[in-house]
Amino acid sequence: MSLKSIQKKLEYTKYVVGEQLCYYEPSRNKSQNTLVQELSSSLNKKQKSINPKFFYDKKGSQLFEQICKLPEYYLTRTEISILTQLYEKLPPHLNGDFRLVELGSGSSKKTRTLISILERLQKHVEYFPIDISKILRDSSKKLRDDYENLHITGIIDSYESGLEFIKNYDNKKNLIVFLGSSFGNFDYENGLEFLQKINSSMKKDDLFLIGLDLVKDKRVLERAYNDSQGVTAKFNLNVLSRINSELGSNFNINKFVHHAIYNESQNRVEIYLRSLENQIVNIPKARMILQIKQDELIHTENSYKYTIPEINKMLSMTGFRIKDIWYDEKQYFCLVLLSKND
Ligand code: TRP
Repeated sequence: MSLKSIQKKLEYTKYVVGEQLCYYEPSRNKSQNTLVQELSSSLNKKQKSINPKFFYDKKGSQLFEQICKLPEYYLTRTEISILTQLYEKLPPHLNGDFRLVELGSGSSKKTRTLISILERLQKHVEYFPIDISKILRDSSKKLRDDYENLHITGIIDSYESGLEFIKNYDNKKNLIVFLGSSFGNFDYENGLEFLQKINSSMKKDDLFLIGLDLVKDKRVLERAYNDSQGVTAKFNLNVLSRINSELGSNFNINKFVHHAIYNESQNRVEIYLRSLENQIVNIPKARMILQIKQDELIHTENSYKYTIPEINKMLSMTGFRIKDIWYDEKQYFCLVLLSKND
């Protein structure tokens, strides 16, 4: 599919910010419709939930950046320590030029390591960041200012739309990266489906690098999602403020608290908003009136942690071959490099 037809089909506007940078953004209507549609269904179920992709408005993205720097949140710095090893370990796997495609690029801080690796090996580097958050605009500008030979095409949308974008785009090889253990936010079935989707959008010589958080001591995990400064709580509650401002609802964020526990039988951290009292919330734009009971939990995210046998199984089931796997010293986290299995 050509860029033009994608632009039309998915209701994007293209913004050109100079020779080195452009990005595609969906119309305001498109994003508001998605929010209304998804909430109308997920908040009407017996177990109320809010899709975690809605965390990332401007404020939410800023709070998430703060989470990444928290002493308790080992994930980001651990993954960076593994990425740093790749200066030596990745080049032997790269034969020829690669375009870097990143799902969930956020601030693009971690990506700098990968861009630097590619810059050493090739004349030009093309980078396709894909992120649901408008933070992409600022992070891409910063990157452009720091790298002379970098060409950036950003897509401010969901992973799925981003994958549509690269599918059959051209003949260049893609190195697709999905960092931060964001994959862990999918449930098992959806995760497998997503891996299959990635696999089917890859060409024979494309590579896929995925960051996964590993099963570890419950206390370490629960601390990472219940930090002492309360940033995680603010981040979780911010999704309600976002819904208030975009859909005109009246969630009172003082009547909810952050709640995160590690479920050992499922290997996942479960994150909720707990209602402090019986309350009624009105969401005009979604035409909903919610009754919420005292202590009722609204589910906002699962963060799955994996074992190596599980990782092997998931990836081989979805058509991948493991080319290499790298860990940090404590084996808290891993990066897996994959190719298509045929
Ligand atoms: N993808 C991140 C993770 O699973 C997101 C995250 C970190 C998160 N802390 C959170 C989501 C707290 C909700 C609440 O680690």
